[in-house]
Amino acid sequence: MNIRQELAKKIKLDNVTVDELVQSFTIPPSIEMGDFALPCFAFAKAQRRNPNEIASEIASSLVNDELIERAEVVNGYVNIYLNKSTVTDKILSNFAETKELKPLNIGDGKIVCIDFSSVNVAKNPHIGHFSSTVIGACIARLYEKLGFEVKRLNYLGDYGTQFGKLVCAYIKWGNREDVQKRGIEALQELYIRVNAECEKDEALLQECRDTFKKMEEHDPFVMELFEWFKDLSIAEVKKNLFEPLKLSFDDWRGEQYYSQFTDDVLQQLTSSGLAKESQGALVVDLEQYGLGVAVVRQSNGTTLYLTRDIATAINRYGEYAFDVCIYITGVEQKLHFAQLFKILELMGNGWADKLLHLVNGRLRLPDGKLSSRKGNQALAKDIIAVATQKACDIIKERSPDKAFDVDKAQQIGLGALIFSALKSGMSKDSVFVLEDAINFDGQTGPYLMYTHARCASVLRKAPVLTTDISNYGIDSDASWELVGCLNKYQDILLEAYQQKEPSVIARYLIELAGHFNKFYHDNRILSDDEASTKKNLTITRFVKYVLNDGLAILGISSPEEM
Ligand code: ARG
Repeated sequence: MNIRQELAKKIKLDNVTVDELVQSFTIPPSIEMGDFALPCFAFAKAQRRNPNEIASEIASSLVNDELIERAEVVNGYVNIYLNKSTVTDKILSNFAETKELKPLNIGDGKIVCIDFSSVNVAKNPHIGHFSSTVIGACIARLYEKLGFEVKRLNYLGDYGTQFGKLVCAYIKWGNREDVQKRGIEALQELYIRVNAECEKDEALLQECRDTFKKMEEHDPFVMELFEWFKDLSIAEVKKNLFEPLKLSFDDWRGEQYYSQFTDDVLQQLTSSGLAKESQGALVVDLEQYGLGVAVVRQSNGTTLYLTRDIATAINRYGEYAFDVCIYITGVEQKLHFAQLFKILELMGNGWADKLLHLVNGRLRLPDGKLSSRKGNQALAKDIIAVATQKACDIIKERSPDKAFDVDKAQQIGLGALIFSALKSGMSKDSVFVLEDAINFDGQTGPYLMYTHARCASVLRKAPVLTTDISNYGIDSDASWELVGCLNKYQDILLEAYQQKEPSVIARYLIELAGHFNKFYHDNRILSDDEASTKKNLTITRFVKYVLNDGLAILGISSPEEM
């Protein structure tokens, strides 16, 4: 139930719309001052009356209302105290009738492309990729939940001299069996070696550049090797990252695919006069926008990441006709995207204002933990394995005689990791301390999963109630706070969407679980009193529904038992 809306509809003020009233309500600083307050100062001018007079008139029109216990006038405000019993009744009976909330459909089928977790060939995903993937996947699910049609795009990093280096290294030192056996690890070793040697050996570097040139010319021998590396890399990220996260992409076309369109882009940039030659290179001067000078073609004729992104955006718009296109990357690409969007706009693409860059924070481990060989970051697959192992240990300790379920342990380990990546805010980095993140009693993913399992267990024990009781009433502050919190869920989803911020949902679920656990401890949910039992069960079912729904948006599973 939208309480603000219901209240606003009851207030009649000349020249003030229901929407304006909805936006005007505030939450008083303390509950003693009411559940909502309506400041009347903004209406005073149009009404040609002082705020207190307006407030008094509103307050007296609200007496004898079923939803309102009383309304008081204080210094130009109307303080509204809800009738807890009838409001709870409305909220719970709405839910009880349908067993779910009416879906929010602000997206109305609009198409949203989300470009995220774009990995590079021959790169084993590490913990930083883990967090950016989890964030992107959450944003995608949030949009879907709100009725948008989402296309998940993985813009594979598969173009550039670095891949010439990889192929060159394989031709020189590689071994087919070894790569077949060890996959991406063998490739990464080759890549590290060739980079080290190129530093000292200019001729080798030139050879690598030539190899990349052959790739650009689609030389079959070089391309067959590279396609093989690409397949290996994709298979590895899927296995180590996307499969555990149950994530799939709609589009895997990457830089190499879109490079076929860069000639057109350069042509357009030149003929429109946007790009100018500068010391053999082709550049777009964006100084007047505070965005520096963007190079779109190097003096040796090669294109850049930026050039390919221009071509990609244009082609994607042609193909998807998106209403919004979101890119999610680390903060280091901020300037890149600002330049990209500006250039697309200056090229006359009216849709450039549909593009949005979001910065994701990174999860990292405390110093020295798992940061494997050569200062590399911990691999996503290793950190998932460690978290799973820890969850196994905890489960065995808590219930030694229950049949052990490895899949559940992995879900709990992932729940701990995912929640850590999401809870502190989209663009903030956070440190992952396993012991804290997996604590069933802390502000963690497993705590939410555990609360969900607790609801499920209560409902399993519930008797079948035959009496039809429509009056739910309210008997304690704990249940009033809990019901009020449940009622906020859809507003929370909207806020998360407006702010593009998964942590809004994460924090809300912690608050909800806290209220529920207090309610669980303070009340006997199942008692001989049918009316109270029915009310408690409806609340429990509602909490379970919201936890399950919210956790699903975060990408965390909701176990029935834990
Ligand atoms: N592959 C890039 C990287 O690893 C991210 C790609 C982001 N998407 C884009 N369209 N530029 O940093």
